[in-house]
Amino acid sequence: MTTPVTIAFTAVDFEALTGAGGRVALVLAPDGRPGAVARRLDRAMRGAVTRALEGKAWAGLKPGQALELAYPAGIAAEAVQLVKLPKKASVAEARKAGAAIGKALGEAGVTVLAAGQPKAAEIAMGVALRSYSFNAYLTEKSGEKGAVTIMADKPGDAADAYAPMAAVAEGVLFTRDLVNEPANVLTTTDFARRLAEMKALGLEVEVLDEPALEKLGMRALLGVGQGSESPSKVVVMQWRGGAKGDAPFALVGKGVVFDTGGISIKPALGMEEMTMDMGGAGVVAGVMRTLALRKAKVNVVGLVGLVENMPDGRAQRPGDIVRSMKGDTIEVVNTDAEGRLVLADVLWYAQERFKPAGMINLATLTGAIIIALGHENAGVFSNDDKLSAALLKAAEAEGEGAWRMPMGPAYDELIKTRLADIKNTGGRPAGSITAAQFLRRFVRDDVPWCHIDIAGVALPPGETAMAPKGATGWGVMTLNRLIGDMLED
Ligand code: BES
Ligand code: MN
Ligand code: ZN
Repeated sequence: MTTPVTIAFTAVDFEALTGAGGRVALVLAPDGRPGAVARRLDRAMRGAVTRALEGKAWAGLKPGQALELAYPAGIAAEAVQLVKLPKKASVAEARKAGAAIGKALGEAGVTVLAAGQPKAAEIAMGVALRSYSFNAYLTEKSGEKGAVTIMADKPGDAADAYAPMAAVAEGVLFTRDLVNEPANVLTTTDFARRLAEMKALGLEVEVLDEPALEKLGMRALLGVGQGSESPSKVVVMQWRGGAKGDAPFALVGKGVVFDTGGISIKPALGMEEMTMDMGGAGVVAGVMRTLALRKAKVNVVGLVGLVENMPDGRAQRPGDIVRSMKGDTIEVVNTDAEGRLVLADVLWYAQERFKPAGMINLATLTGAIIIALGHENAGVFSNDDKLSAALLKAAEAEGEGAWRMPMGPAYDELIKTRLADIKNTGGRPAGSITAAQFLRRFVRDDVPWCHIDIAGVALPPGETAMAPKGATGWGVMTLNRLIGDMLED
């Protein structure tokens, strides 16, 4: 498991800065007028900082961007990064500045001078998020990260502000690890075991096995997993940090550890990406970890449906009709539209058992959401304007793209069939919306609910501002903030 780099906050100290090996980063206001300690450092470096700040490269930088001076004379560091950041920087800009430092972080570590910069904790958050790399299977490990020291005006205050952020960063990295793991390692059983280990953090974790799911009547979920050697499971994680009788908020995640499509098998090209099809469950797990780590004063229950969608002699066929836990029958016209079958039963179970005050599900549900929104925004579908507005606001504050999509009963026409109460796909038109309409059938009208389709943002094709190429952990920060804004005081 990857944990965030440890970050120490210290008082500004000129001797320590000039003597620091590894890298040095100077966080400087755009006007290029360095503070007293940076000026002393500049003199030690024989004016190299001043010359850089007078040049065109510095003028062209946006807030949060950096330029680099390699092997500077006069000090011990191997490189000095000049990071542009206004004093009144936004959270996003401060995190980007940290990300520039975190991306460059190597074995020898970095010492950051953030004198005069009120957002030292946000800079640290950027370092923690962007210094991540997933190298569990590289024989020659190159990704070792050295110590990070941030010199700030009020190091104690900065450390206090960073402590809850470190809990969020750990949740994000937990999600990224889960999403990056290959499916021969992260089986349903292994996933459930990793979640059960979070009992040590104070979470209550239950693992429901196939006989238990059979007893509950979850035939929609079980049908998806019946072609796999890995047994299907539902994992329930409860964090009870709030008042006793308070109804919990429910988070539900699609956890398809590998999606071949089943008998409606996917083409070979790109199929290896379907190791990320448990991304929704990964986000739910990351949020639960964060809530436990920061001992959130709130009741939240996280439920994930863990299955593998494989073709096999016992696999579900196109045309099969299954009965969901709710009781509605579903014609499975395409076994590759499996996520909604899993979620139908877990959503219903979440409501029956926990009577939640509200519910959000996350899923890498449709390729169509990538056609609609690309990799910039997750698609948000909701039956509740207040909840979805609060969600979009939290996403905006965290710099995670999210866009509300329409719903409506007219789309239900596309998922009608003569053979059952509903069918599991509505064809190509509005593919993400018909998937959302399908889910909505398994949500009670009086439960405020959002469905977030994260197929485009969970594992984008290249690096992002806060993550290297690979899993982003999109949504952990947004949901953590939403829970804080909405449910904690
Ligand atoms: N897991 C996929 C969706 C997906 C596609 C996630 C690309 C990430 C990247 C989902 O189970 C799926 O296969 N959906 C089908 C639905 C169709 C059969 C109605 C799709 O999007 O093609
Ligand atoms: Mn599929
Ligand atoms: Zn899928």
